[in-house]
Amino acid sequence: TTIETFIQHIPKAELHLHIEGTLEPELMMKIAKRNEISLDYESVDEIKKAYQFSNLQDFLDIYYAGANVLRHETDFFDLTWSYLTKAHSQNIVHTEIFFDPQTHTERGVAFSTVITGIHKALEKAQNELGISSKIIMSILRHLDEDSALETLKEALPYKEWITAIGLDSSEVGNPPSKFARVFEKAKTEGFETVAHAGEEGDAGYVREAIEILKVSRIDHGNRSLEDELLIKHIVENKIPLTVCPLSNLKLKVVKEAIDHPLLKMLNRGMVATVNSDDPAYFGGYINENFLAMSEALNLTAKHVHQLSRNSFIASFLTQEEKSKWI
Ligand code: HPA
Ligand code: ZN
Repeated sequence: TTIETFIQHIPKAELHLHIEGTLEPELMMKIAKRNEISLDYESVDEIKKAYQFSNLQDFLDIYYAGANVLRHETDFFDLTWSYLTKAHSQNIVHTEIFFDPQTHTERGVAFSTVITGIHKALEKAQNELGISSKIIMSILRHLDEDSALETLKEALPYKEWITAIGLDSSEVGNPPSKFARVFEKAKTEGFETVAHAGEEGDAGYVREAIEILKVSRIDHGNRSLEDELLIKHIVENKIPLTVCPLSNLKLKVVKEAIDHPLLKMLNRGMVATVNSDDPAYFGGYINENFLAMSEALNLTAKHVHQLSRNSFIASFLTQEEKSKWI
């Protein structure tokens, strides 16, 4: 259809993408084999069949287990390069990717191994595919403040490569306030900050991320719609929301595609963007996310254009870099 072609061709920025969540079953098996790691699965089909989740924690358990095959710099390079070629095929021209260092350092893989592999792939993508990028180092919120502070310290020698600090993993029971000091230090060190909030946690989690962590973007943010005063604050301060439609469906944050709040967010004047979160686990990259929403919510080319425009506005590119795309 014409909207499908429009979605494919319009230049886009992706702002909510966990690199560990781009590990396709085929690559997982290939890396497991060369690293001599035995998997709990015999085939790609068997892996795919295991990807059925009833909530965020269900998914996280499988996602952290999958990341266990990643051991060497080349593994992180191959993972990232594979995502970047896919992103290029979908007309993503700028991407801001999360990585979860603690997922790797906790099992003995060095911070430098992880970030160097990712960085080298991003550099190659800039040179060969013309894709610009930023790295967001995300803190695992189910771990304690000391582990977060230690991770922030490990990031300092790599400041040149890391633009922002984020917060992900199990939301309910791990509110933003748990990391108030970590984010304060991150800001002092000159990092931008973002946080996952309002995915499973209520509007109070979004409020804390904004008021206590002082983040410049909210990842997901769905449940901010439950609080009128918060909506007003988000609109007036143009705080972007990085929304992930297929993720929301797979993790049962939203029941059916037609119930998805994306259009409501746009109509309320919120700077919403469309992203793929963990595409290897949720059944689609950015264009499939756009397409699912355009079908369910009857999005027009105008909506798609607004969402693409929002993705650049909400990015960490400079004004001058943004003006090339908006
Ligand atoms: N939410 C929280 N943690 C995550 C996610 C998510 O959607 N993806 C990867 N880690
Ligand atoms: Zn996420």
